[in-house]
Amino acid sequence: MSALTDSEWLNPLIGLLQGAQLGLLRLLAWLGLAASSHGQPAWPWALRLSGENLLIDLGQARRLALTLLVLALAVFLLVVALIWRRRRWLLVAAVPMLLVLAPWPQPEVVLVPAYPTSFHRSPTGFSAESIVQGRALYAQHCVGCHGIDGRGQGPLAAAQPVWPPNLAGPLLWRRADGDLLWRVLHGTKDRHGTSTMPGFERLADSEAWALIDFMKAQGAGQSLRASGVWSQPIGLPDVIVRCEGREPRPLSSWRGGQRLRIVAADSTTALLEDPRMVTAQLQPASHAALPRAPDCVIDAPAAWEAFSLIAGTDHLAGTQLLADRDGWLRARSAPGDAGWSEDDLLCRTATASGNPQDDPPPADGLGALIARMDAEPVRFLKGGFVH
Ligand code: HEC
Repeated sequence: MSALTDSEWLNPLIGLLQGAQLGLLRLLAWLGLAASSHGQPAWPWALRLSGENLLIDLGQARRLALTLLVLALAVFLLVVALIWRRRRWLLVAAVPMLLVLAPWPQPEVVLVPAYPTSFHRSPTGFSAESIVQGRALYAQHCVGCHGIDGRGQGPLAAAQPVWPPNLAGPLLWRRADGDLLWRVLHGTKDRHGTSTMPGFERLADSEAWALIDFMKAQGAGQSLRASGVWSQPIGLPDVIVRCEGREPRPLSSWRGGQRLRIVAADSTTALLEDPRMVTAQLQPASHAALPRAPDCVIDAPAAWEAFSLIAGTDHLAGTQLLADRDGWLRARSAPGDAGWSEDDLLCRTATASGNPQDDPPPADGLGALIARMDAEPVRFLKGGFVH
């Protein structure tokens, strides 16, 4: 038997902390005890338990996990003491001992400053419209410091008290979305209280959420350009799809159902349907003289732009993208590629073992790719190990 890998015990721990705090906030809101901030119930405390720090300090994460186990044991003893009269005092006396012996983690690692919006969820659904709206706002307000590509090399960057971070790295995936919202709207301070980034209070909440969507889409594309993979998981941007003989529906309605293939139309390739997935053709703004469209078509003007950003290319035509059943984008094939192969999987599990399976290998490249995609689902947890 192999020992648990770090991601196997840490992600559930981070998920538990997140879920418990969110549950508490929901309870407060339900009881009418939570104020409102930027449209959602506000986290009332100045601190919260942090997942993202645990990822960096595994020693403290272990201590926290053990302490929680000890606390659970203490609660269990108290419950037993209620029932088992004869040994009651012995059990009750064991509780303070346990509390003293528990390997309490350092509070400054486990607790981080919180904002009223720390547990807010984005209302945008990562829609293509929102991404495109965010792009325009970014060009208007943020590019001077953060740079066109988000790497922090804007013309004003050197004049800032600290260097703007690389938004194309893991940062946006580690931070709680609600913390990002707060920082964009209210600015950032260093630990001495000196302002490091100005706040953008003049933006509407929806505009700040759109900026966050754009930064993620751009970060995914930049990652693809720089390293050839999506090092952070990225979901399908949501758009309306029109399928023959059906009501138009959002792409997200397929989540948990079918695999999706998005094909950016070009004038040369005729598309063949494939029974293993739903194919949707993405239409550019002007789509004269295209080959016969497949069953499903995406023609929202924002879609082409959003997919170009995520695919990290200015020449989207002919590109194909595959999304898994959970709506994560997983693979890309560049224009002109002969066919799919397993190597096209751009968002993959780092710990995947190359174990030879007993099943016979699928006959074609696409089959192999799909088998691998299905076998290694994305288990993304904010602030946890990715993929
Ligand atoms: C005047 C320069 C400047 C402008 C304009 C600016 N930023 Fe920043 N930004 C910074 C600096 C400097 C930091 C690093 C702050 C720090 O680490 O304390 C930062 C940090 C960030 C972070 C990371 C926050 C975190 O959690 O660590 C995000 C996200 C961000 N900026 C988004 C934006 C967006 C969106 C805009 C436009 C609405 C914007 N910034 C405009 C200078 C700027």
